[in-house]
Amino acid sequence: MSESFDLIVIGAGPGGYVCAIRAAQLGMKVACVEKRATLGGTCLNVGCIPSKALLHSSEHYEETKHKLADHGVIVEGVKIDLARMQARKGEVVSSNTKGIEFLFKKNKVTWLKGAASIPAPGQVTVEGTTYAAKHIVIATGSESIPLPGVEVDETQIVTSTGGLELTKVPGHLVVIGGGYIGLELGSVWRRLGAEVTVVEFLDRLVPGMDSEVGKQFERVLGKQGIKTKLKTKVTGATKAADGVTLTLEPAAGGAAESLKADVVLVAIGRRAFTGGLGLAEIGVALDERGRVVTDAHYATNIPGIYAIGDAIVGPMLAHKAEEEGVAMAEILAGQHGHVNYNAIPGVVYTWPEVASIGETEEQLKTRGAEYKVGKFPFTANARARAMGDIDGFVKILADKTSDRVLGAHIMGPDAGTLIAEIAIAMEFGASAEDVARTCHAHPSLNEAVKEAALAVDGRALHI
Ligand code: FAD
Ligand code: NAI
Repeated sequence: MSESFDLIVIGAGPGGYVCAIRAAQLGMKVACVEKRATLGGTCLNVGCIPSKALLHSSEHYEETKHKLADHGVIVEGVKIDLARMQARKGEVVSSNTKGIEFLFKKNKVTWLKGAASIPAPGQVTVEGTTYAAKHIVIATGSESIPLPGVEVDETQIVTSTGGLELTKVPGHLVVIGGGYIGLELGSVWRRLGAEVTVVEFLDRLVPGMDSEVGKQFERVLGKQGIKTKLKTKVTGATKAADGVTLTLEPAAGGAAESLKADVVLVAIGRRAFTGGLGLAEIGVALDERGRVVTDAHYATNIPGIYAIGDAIVGPMLAHKAEEEGVAMAEILAGQHGHVNYNAIPGVVYTWPEVASIGETEEQLKTRGAEYKVGKFPFTANARARAMGDIDGFVKILADKTSDRVLGAHIMGPDAGTLIAEIAIAMEFGASAEDVARTCHAHPSLNEAVKEAALAVDGRALHI
């Protein structure tokens, strides 16, 4: 047996690297195994960060080309340098991944380079060397779900990874799946000039979010030129040199039609990734979707082995994985690490952004809750008008009796930042009136949140 550690974390994504750093802060001797050439996992390398870099760059282009004239700023000869845009994205990614390397050094976390397996409880093997570990945390993340009949080659038929690397703007991009990835990457390539069609199996976009948001989102994206085909499934794809022909059918069955695309993005969800760890051999239980089964303290059925992040149940979001990383390290240190799963925001970083936290109206109806709704549109917010960004609204759901905030759903400018106010309110168990009675700066977008909170009791001032 080679060196021994208090904790070996497998995977250096937002769950794993944060867990490793926090555990080291708490005095443990920690190693983190990562098989990629760089740290940061899916999120920093091929997920959150590169997608946000391209979303920002493409939004600058769109603004310059189509919005600035409205503000009296005339720019002529606007062009795209896609190679530069992609190179910048690479620079953003590498500054972030190098940042994690710096943090590992600072906190004395050992990076074991290579793919890990767990030959036995208390042992981790990397590149032929076996290390001893008092605790092992599986933070191996997730991978794209494949669609039978639509085989990914990362050139003509891509996952998000290929969709972030295109070197030419496609003439027609067909996105399969109207969720987070489909709408963010669909927006990027639409802004850069592609015709974009989103094919979604269910009857609305981002189906996990409040249905009112989903419907308005579809309308706003439609105005921007994104076409949607709801209640439709893709049953096959034929590739040729000049593009891909997809076969579509109504989700409920019916006559097939064909749709031609230059590039097809498959974005129908992600699934836990635990391949190569040897979990079956040592008896770690997985659920029917391949996720590692844990208790409320992230312990698996095998003593000393834990799991967090995309590899376990819950929303596949970087900040959820990070919170679990911190809680995990604190639990291992004998503290009371805890994650409040009722207050995890979800944000689609399109423009306008869409942000959601807590329960949706549909969920409240399903559980028979008595609730109140307060809504406020950005058309009535002075700052949104000054910006020229009036699409969308804030919707707050509160308990009918206690007035406690149960959820909030925002579509609008900077919705992803605005939702943080509600996250704090929910964390503190605040009522809608608490939010409504808080002084909000004027003129700010946050005033729309305050007004929606006022509207919960029919007291909105500006509508
Ligand atoms: P991961 O980040 O997937 O990290 C797991 C790591 O484990 C990987 O680096 C992998 O190489 C490594 N690994 C796996 N097996 C082994 C092994 N046997 N040995 C060694 N290493 C191993 N979430 C957000 O909150 N906001 C966003 O804006 C956002 N944008 C996204 C955009 C895209 C295109 C995608 C695909 C995802 C996005 N996500 C976003 C989701 C986010 O990336 C994930 O929720 C997050 O990365 C999960 O973190 P994790 O630590 O659980 O796993
Ligand atoms: P998703 O779950 O967000 O969306 C998948 C969509 O595809 C759903 O609307 C689903 O109904 C639809 N679908 C499923 N099967 C289909 C089929 N056969 N044909 C047509 N539509 C089908 O998954 P996505 O977009 O792949 O992203 C994966 C995960 O990554 C997200 O759920 C999210 O957790 C994370 N992510 C988060 C981001 C963020 O926080 N901004 C950005 C990108 C990804």
